[in-house]
Amino acid sequence: MPNIRLDKFLADVGVGTRSQVKEITKKGRVCVNDNVVKKTDIKIDTENDVVTLDGKRLAYFEYEYFMLNKPQGVVSATKDNLSKTVVELITESKRRDLFPVGRLDKDTEGLLIITNDGVLANNILAPGKHVDKTYYAVVDGRATEDTVDLFSAGVDIGDDELTKPAVLEILSVTDDESGASQSKVKITITEGRYHQIKRMFNAVGMEVTYLKRLSMGPIFLDETLECGTYRRLTDEEIKLLREVHR
Ligand code: URA
Repeated sequence: MPNIRLDKFLADVGVGTRSQVKEITKKGRVCVNDNVVKKTDIKIDTENDVVTLDGKRLAYFEYEYFMLNKPQGVVSATKDNLSKTVVELITESKRRDLFPVGRLDKDTEGLLIITNDGVLANNILAPGKHVDKTYYAVVDGRATEDTVDLFSAGVDIGDDELTKPAVLEILSVTDDESGASQSKVKITITEGRYHQIKRMFNAVGMEVTYLKRLSMGPIFLDETLECGTYRRLTDEEIKLLREVHR
């Protein structure tokens, strides 16, 4: 049974720091199963005990999982002195231990999972797992069947090893009046190297001008989520993520 101390419970659900929740509790504002409690070292059964603050029930989730449609201009970090972070966009949760599962560049949009479940995150990010990540990209340059072949063979992006095979699907190629080409593509990679997709296209003489992640393993970006908004993962999605064990 999941028993934790009341101060941890209150801090985890965002009531305040450990010392703040001690003060709040001393004032008699917290009840456990309808009894006022004044000490925070008592144990709470997170599944069965009813904890209230000022009469309002506090819901406890040991782990929280969110799907964010990351907008541009926000960094994939928990803290940043200059820019807004992806964690700050999850306004519904006041937990301090949320973090993004992997990183998207500041100018990349799309699917980012935010959680406080470190085991699940490590499982998905472990290099040996090769979880598929699919992106939509707009690229300056003409993507051809040769590009598809190069990407499927692995590309030299200046690291010790070629990239692992990537699947490139060309959606459209257009030319403007000056003769410059623009390609719209879907690309699936199984690694998470720094600026990987941008560097792969650079290596074949093209430049990514727009990048959006569409899926990560079994999780697909919910297209009803406006850029910058989020929702909780469904129980089914959490189950699928837990099954990422190859
Ligand atoms: N590849 C990139 O170049 N950038 C991202 O944000 C993700 C993959």
